[in-house]
Amino acid sequence: MTVWTPKDDGFADLTNHDTFANGAPHNTFKRLRDEDPISWTDYDQGEGFWSITRNQDITEMNRNFKVFSSARGIRMEDQSYEEYLARRTFQEIDPPEHMHTRVKLAKAFSKPVVAQFEEDIRDLCAEILDQALANDSFDATKDIARQLPMRMLGRILGLPDKDLPWLVEKGDALIANTDPDFTDHVLDKMETDEYRKMPFNSPAGADLADYAKTLMAEKDASGDTSGILHLIRAPGKDGSVISDEEFRNFFCLAVAAGNDTTRYSIAAGIQAMCHQPELLGQMQTGDDAFWDLAPDEIIRWATPALYFRRTLTQDFEAHGKQMKEGDKVLFWWASANRDETVIDDPFRVNLTRSPNKHMSFGQSGPHVCLGMWLARLEVRVLFQELSKRLKKIEPNGAHKFLRSNFVGGIKELPVRVHLQ
Ligand code: HEM
Repeated sequence: MTVWTPKDDGFADLTNHDTFANGAPHNTFKRLRDEDPISWTDYDQGEGFWSITRNQDITEMNRNFKVFSSARGIRMEDQSYEEYLARRTFQEIDPPEHMHTRVKLAKAFSKPVVAQFEEDIRDLCAEILDQALANDSFDATKDIARQLPMRMLGRILGLPDKDLPWLVEKGDALIANTDPDFTDHVLDKMETDEYRKMPFNSPAGADLADYAKTLMAEKDASGDTSGILHLIRAPGKDGSVISDEEFRNFFCLAVAAGNDTTRYSIAAGIQAMCHQPELLGQMQTGDDAFWDLAPDEIIRWATPALYFRRTLTQDFEAHGKQMKEGDKVLFWWASANRDETVIDDPFRVNLTRSPNKHMSFGQSGPHVCLGMWLARLEVRVLFQELSKRLKKIEPNGAHKFLRSNFVGGIKELPVRVHLQ
């Protein structure tokens, strides 16, 4: 089996962002799945946590939201109840309350609504690729992967094009807040508590919330109903409308959740094309059935969200381990997606993998990714458009990963291309 994390001796420190600067520590995840599938880690910056690493365990526990609650935060870092209340989005609220917001958003992000944007996405992809492929060597993360998701989200939400570069920057700072390449406020190196009550623990969150407020006011004043924002803000069947606070929090969440996850899926897919040259030919001859499967495999390979956290509402025993009410539990999607008991030959990209029991979108739980149809469509169209322009793509130097144990991503991907 090829495991491509050079400095991982099977006992990597999952709390240390530096560990992930070489990619996810797959040797450690493999050892944990085999020997210690519910394993305790002490954490010098807060309470310790349990790591769940097997695909089947995560599938079952994620479904069990009454015991594995999202309502105390979704990241490893601790927060007080006051901070939780100030920062939370509907992603950090359990059913049934969670459903109040989710149903209001679901239609706007459903497969048929999102499908209406396919031609828009194709035009944007063509524009981005024409620019990037004008050079025969370039950084594929910066020049391709980084360009599409935020511009697409902007179109779908109906945001002015001129604001999109600013939004990409804020989105980066929000989520990649442990990598000094993306923020001046590196989360685990901050010395003050100044940002603890801001959305996403970051000044970028406060900027985005202000932006959303102004945008709403402007759209209301001009009667602008472009994009899906008017769907989100339309009264539901029961006549209720999304509140301003819900909307602002959703907006920050959409920028955070829709920006770098899709970007790093695209980057990982391009990296896979460099290392498995047969993928290009498969893409070039792929029919509709092929393209129904390929995006999920690219997104499994990428696993941009490495984990999400839950908190136990009661004691729970599994595999002989006694977990206690209040304990933090991390679902490591990154490990579930390389679990060879469920995913055959997991370190190879197989674009026709079916079934594909990957967990990149948090499948099985009530918080399963709202944007998954959009992400799948973006990935599909981008790779369709890219593959039809290429004769060959190869690495042009080493790729570099983000310094983050939360977002898994290739932040620099030097490639060389030969065009058709
Ligand atoms: C490949 C790209 C993406 C990946 C890998 C991904 C991953 C995830 C995961 C793992 C969750 C579940 C979190 C949990 O269980 O606590 C989630 C939830 C969510 N995602 Fe995505 N995401 C992607 C793209 C997007 C896009 C494009 C959007 C749209 C704007 C989006 C919006 C959301 C929202 C709003 C939630 C919260 C849903 C809820 O709590 O009910 N995501 N995503």
